[in-house]
Amino acid sequence: MNRYVIVLAAGKGTRMKSKLYKVLHKVAGKAMVEYVIEAAENIGADDIVTVVGHGAQQVKEVIGSRSQYVLQEQQLGTGHAVLQTEPLLGAKKGTTLVICGDTPLLTAQTLEALFAEHEKTGAAATILSAHMDHPFGYGRIIRDACGDVQKIVEQKDATPQEQAVTEINTGTYCFDNEWLFKMLAHVDNHNAQGEYYLPDVIGLLKEAGQKVSAYQMTDSHESLGVNDRQALYLANRYMFDRICQKHMQNGVSFIDAKTAYIEDGVIIGEDTIIEPNVILKGQTRIGRNCLVGANTSIIDSVIEDDVTITSSHIQQSYVASNSDLGPWARLRPNAHIGHNVHIGNFVEVKNATIGQGTKAGHLAYIGDATLGQDINIGCGAIFVNYDGVNKHRSTVGNHAFIGSNANIVAPVDVKDYGFIAAGSTITQDVPKDALAIGRARQVNKEDYVSQKMRDYLEK
Ligand code: UD1
Ligand code: MG
Repeated sequence: MNRYVIVLAAGKGTRMKSKLYKVLHKVAGKAMVEYVIEAAENIGADDIVTVVGHGAQQVKEVIGSRSQYVLQEQQLGTGHAVLQTEPLLGAKKGTTLVICGDTPLLTAQTLEALFAEHEKTGAAATILSAHMDHPFGYGRIIRDACGDVQKIVEQKDATPQEQAVTEINTGTYCFDNEWLFKMLAHVDNHNAQGEYYLPDVIGLLKEAGQKVSAYQMTDSHESLGVNDRQALYLANRYMFDRICQKHMQNGVSFIDAKTAYIEDGVIIGEDTIIEPNVILKGQTRIGRNCLVGANTSIIDSVIEDDVTITSSHIQQSYVASNSDLGPWARLRPNAHIGHNVHIGNFVEVKNATIGQGTKAGHLAYIGDATLGQDINIGCGAIFVNYDGVNKHRSTVGNHAFIGSNANIVAPVDVKDYGFIAAGSTITQDVPKDALAIGRARQVNKEDYVSQKMRDYLEK
């Protein structure tokens, strides 16, 4: 049986009170509608059609060629939205899944279970329903005395008895495609919101003598529809929790998973430990047996095996195995840290390569530089890379020694074993094995302190 998926994503999302269109709001780093498209892909849909309207261009940019599109110029309701797909899907035979772009937590497994139920019962429509302790705002599933589904009633149209029903419509349904379009033609907008409701198709099918059923999912969290910021917050909480559970199954330890914010798509190796308040974003990959210490943020970066990171911020950078960073290290874009490197407290690295075994223990800035192996960078060393107009690069050879508080005024080239005295301002290249001293000579003025000054100093 062919499978089609219609994703409803034309609404503005008024209740979000946002300039950003609703389905583009992010949950764990990814737009809500992307999760829905991904689930549709995972159930092997033959066609995916997304209904766009508000922010059509932006929505299309996010989803790209993963879906076909139809434009709903005026948002007259979910039934009207589905009707817009008729030119693409109306003549087809098969099962059509309709899903909202604002239900990011629904999994492909749940959708598969819905399809299985739909195919087993041979119904013309099967609703994915859920139990909610607080069903306010959702459409309610109304069943007859025998327990058969009669219709769906929206919150604003529901009688007090109907409002007491805790079985809700998740906004996800399987339809026999031909019956769907046949019934949509009869949906009207005589209701509290003056909209063409897709759920009305259920009641119409029933009146036409067709079988409709509802498959109640087990995990009601999954059915959360995000209409406002409170729900967006909850969706993020559930999604971050789901992501942590997945990593735990893969052998990652969490000290306090409630405070770990790991975006969808981040990869973490076995035996890595994640401490509290860790944020891992974007295209980030972390190897095995690492310690990602408290208050660390890592964005779009690769960390190899056996790396220890403490309270540090890392962005668009690479760290080879066995290195350690922090506390309070900062890797800005394009920092490339070699194997067994030590980057200590208050060290900032930007657009620089640091070779194996090199150490920068404290309070240094390494920007626009290429550093070799086994170099010692003293406390307070600064790679002076900017002349006010242009950035310049410096290089430092293997086994060099950069004394504390040295300024390396780029561009300079310090050769292997070059030795820079503490406090030097280096403006010329340093040859191999040379000692470079670039600082004012010390002068001692004998008997400088008079009795008067001595009295003052001793006060
Ligand atoms: C809808 C259902 C409700 C269900 C709930 C589940 C209707 C009438 N109500 O209510 O039974 O419990 O979802 O979350 O269907 N959209 C369009 N075009 C429109 C209107 C909406 O594309 O003209 C899209 C929206 O972008 C959204 C989805 O359809 O992604 C659902 O619309 P929304 O306004 O969120 O409906 P709910 O009030 O949540
Ligand atoms: Mg909604």
